[in-house]
Amino acid sequence: MKRIALATLACISVLASLPAAAQFQKPEDAVKYRKAAFSVMATHFGRIGAVVQGKAPFDAKAVQANADVVATLAALPFTAFGEGTGVGETRAKPEIWSQADKYKASAQAMTDAVAKLDAAAKTGNLDQIKVAFGETGKTCKACHDAFRKE
Ligand code: HEC
Repeated sequence: MKRIALATLACISVLASLPAAAQFQKPEDAVKYRKAAFSVMATHFGRIGAVVQGKAPFDAKAVQANADVVATLAALPFTAFGEGTGVGETRAKPEIWSQADKYKASAQAMTDAVAKLDAAAKTGNLDQIKVAFGETGKTCKACHDAFRKE
């Protein structure tokens, strides 16, 4: 029993110390994963955008549901930028790896903004949602300008 428990523990600690890319069999899988995660996140973010821009009616519950999805998905793409995954059909710039700290900070800025958007959505106050949406959008753009190819 004790040996099994120790072996399990050893496995867990090895897994925890592996780079995120190791969760993917091939670099292409990581690229596909992060693009899919960005795409779904952007779809739900865009649905809030339509409300903010007055192109869709304001339904507080729907905005809240969309903000929840965005908040849940926000961290996922960044688990798929391991070393060596800047290959194939990707718009990821090499700076993601050569300026890794800056990239991480940029991702964190978005994660923080998304948490504020989620909190604003929960208030049901459209003015607060508008502000938080705008702030979040800025963090998307800042990273795309610096780290995503045209
Ligand atoms: C820290 C950097 C960073 C932040 C922040 C960021 N993105 Fe991106 N995004 C990227 C990179 C890099 C790619 C290119 C991924 C690739 O092609 O491998 C990308 C790709 C995308 C794509 C294209 C996915 C596809 O199908 O090819 C969409 C849509 C997108 N991002 C939306 C967003 C939205 C919306 C936000 C803000 C809520 C956001 N991104 C925030 C770095 C970021």
